[in-house]
Amino acid sequence: MKEQLEQVYRTAIDELGHITNSDALREWELKFIGRKGEITLMLRQTGQLPAEERADFGKRANDIKNELTQAFEERESLIRQQELAQSLEEGDIDVTLPGRPRRTGGLHPSTQTLRQIQEIWAEMGFQVYRSRDVEDDDTNFTLLNIPPHHPARDMWDTFYTTQDGVILRTHTSPGQIRAMQDYGEDGTKPIRVILPGMCYRYEQISARSEIQFYQVEGLAIGKSIRMTDLKGTIADFARRLYGPETQVRYRASYFPFTEPSMEVDVQCMLCDGEGCSVCKHTGWLEIMGCGMVHPTVLRNGGYDPTEWSGFAFGMGPERITMLKHDIQDIRYFWANDMRFLSQF
Ligand code: DAH
Repeated sequence: MKEQLEQVYRTAIDELGHITNSDALREWELKFIGRKGEITLMLRQTGQLPAEERADFGKRANDIKNELTQAFEERESLIRQQELAQSLEEGDIDVTLPGRPRRTGGLHPSTQTLRQIQEIWAEMGFQVYRSRDVEDDDTNFTLLNIPPHHPARDMWDTFYTTQDGVILRTHTSPGQIRAMQDYGEDGTKPIRVILPGMCYRYEQISARSEIQFYQVEGLAIGKSIRMTDLKGTIADFARRLYGPETQVRYRASYFPFTEPSMEVDVQCMLCDGEGCSVCKHTGWLEIMGCGMVHPTVLRNGGYDPTEWSGFAFGMGPERITMLKHDIQDIRYFWANDMRFLSQF
């Protein structure tokens, strides 16, 4: 077997010396040093030799394999250079062709709006509080003054889980309770937070509603916070978002967790209030709900409502983005269509 090994070695070296193209080189590699190559197979047979011959044979076979591998690599780089020089000469490569453009990535429009909103609130002293996506029924509803079986629950179509009382949050408002419990130190500390996050609703997906979307909630708690603070703060936010001339109006509304409750409209930025199809010819666009935190909610967060008060608001960044760019269909936000995304 030893003689056979040397024989294969000589043949291999001889054949390698005659190879001039990479196809033949690949074949040579398979034949001699590949996984089923002759040298490899012989190495594997070392165990069948008489014990006293094994060490010598194994060492020699290994040396040969290493030597052949090195010779192979040298030959390979030589052939590669030759082939490149040849193809350059024959004009296979057109160096005048334009390069392939590298596309740069961009931020998703929702991310852009979210960051813009966060920046504005940060300037006004509001800290980001991240609350959980998976909530319990109590925090999502009951502690927000929406008891079981209350008809107001119909405002939020809910994803329930197989675990009793565990749901996906239908809005970011439960984060109000969590922030009060977390930061309030048993109702002794003022709070100013915004709570951005994903919300989930069991809805028929359509141009106007998705089952998954962002909200940015806001909460301010203090000793003498009044409705005028709410109105001034929201107006300031709207002007920072849409420009200093932006007109804002408040309409009375209803939410179980605020009293009184309002909805906020800004003058339509597409027609400057003249009336267009986006604002349905009213000149106004609704951008959020808000109100003074309901005493029951304050109490559930650990605060004494005779001493403390606060305001809260909630807005939908997708809706804000849609209004800003006149996007007609909310499903674009999750469709991952580059023709849509690359416009932002
Ligand atoms: N949670 C409400 C919703 O999903 C939005 C909202 C309205 C939040 C008024 C608030 C608020 O904090 O004060 O429809």
